[in-house]
Amino acid sequence: MEKEFSFVFGNTPSKVRIQDSLPDARELSEGRRALLVCDENTSPLALKTAGDSGLSLCVLPQGEDNKTWAAVESILKAAREAGLGRDGVFIGIGGGVTSDLCAFAASVYMRGAALCIVSTTLLGMVDAAIGGKTGFDFLGIKNLVGTFYPAGKVIMPLEALKTLREKEWKSGLAELVKTAVLGDSELFGMVKNIQKNRETLAACIARAVEIKGRIVEEDPRETGKRRALLNLGHTFGHALESAAGLGKISHGEAVAWGMARSCELGLYLGVTPPGRARDITELLKSFGYETRAPYPTGADAAVLMEAMAGDKKRKSGKLNFIVPAPQGAEIVPDPGGGITGKIINGELSL
Ligand SMILES: NC(=O)c1ccc[n+]([C@@H]2O[C@H](COP(=O)([O-])OP(=O)(O)OC[C@H]3O[C@@H](n4cnc5c(N)ncnc54)[C@H](O)[C@@H]3O)[C@@H](O)[C@H]2O)c1
Repeated sequence: MEKEFSFVFGNTPSKVRIQDSLPDARELSEGRRALLVCDENTSPLALKTAGDSGLSLCVLPQGEDNKTWAAVESILKAAREAGLGRDGVFIGIGGGVTSDLCAFAASVYMRGAALCIVSTTLLGMVDAAIGGKTGFDFLGIKNLVGTFYPAGKVIMPLEALKTLREKEWKSGLAELVKTAVLGDSELFGMVKNIQKNRETLAACIARAVEIKGRIVEEDPRETGKRRALLNLGHTFGHALESAAGLGKISHGEAVAWGMARSCELGLYLGVTPPGRARDITELLKSFGYETRAPYPTGADAAVLMEAMAGDKKRKSGKLNFIVPAPQGAEIVPDPGGGITGKIINGELSL
């Protein structure tokens, strides 16, 4: 199975290829000096990709807790030690944490070096590896520091998904549901019947890549309203992640819970039709996500509200939510009057 997409994000062309097996590092480096960046779980995949190329490897500690400046520093040091010049290539092999870190490092190394991403998680494939957002967590705030820096090449080897743990698989499904809500009923139907066989999976990933890629092409730097739609479920979800302590609740769990809250807010505002809110919530439930409020563990409602207020400060006083519309989704301002607090506390449950 092989499928390729060509996008242009801002002025940067970005090729995305979905393929069965891991790529060959030589093919990615095209004779230039390169640094392979992976984490401790994706190092076997990185070693296989490296083969006998002799390219240098930088292995990071795994997990969101390690999406830090220290990790970026170690990538930059490794690049220097490997003798990368401005024509060097950074090759990030891993999930969203590795690709966000590696892409950030590539974006600042000698004012910008070439970047390839080999995405190895479902979440990475359907979301994180496409569209050029890079970054790391800082001062306890997710992705506080980052750049826009699309990868010239993104490879999605389906083979990599074989070793993915159930928790990570589930995390990716939430983003897939999100894209399906934004995209079309065809993908929504495909996700409903998703199985871990290559054909269905590859078709879902390809459709999600196309939907996300086209959205980002229209609004690469999120200056308009288009790209912001990709944050469906994320205002509530990020608050949950922060309130629980970064890395305690998976990104997917948080986004799924956030999407259920967005459905409730959309219903309250009359933007989300009841049948659609039910369909989305039922689909999330069928994947085993917690969709009820309040979230049962690790997230005090007051702390959650505080996290959302922090988000508001970051967005110059205005807090917006994305809610499902009859088709796609819509941006709505915070309705005020304590409505979002009631939603978080389960007082406006479906
Ligand atoms: N840049 C963007 O546009 C964007 C979009 C969505 C999410 N993100 C970011 O992505 C991150 C979440 O992504 P993620 O869930 O892929 O995180 P991750 O990179 O931490 O991967 C999840 C876990 O799976 C392991 N892993 C990765 N590939 C594996 C494989 N093939 N087999 C076995 N284990 C494997 C990792 O070591 C890690 O333990 C968050 O930091 C989020 O902010 C970025």
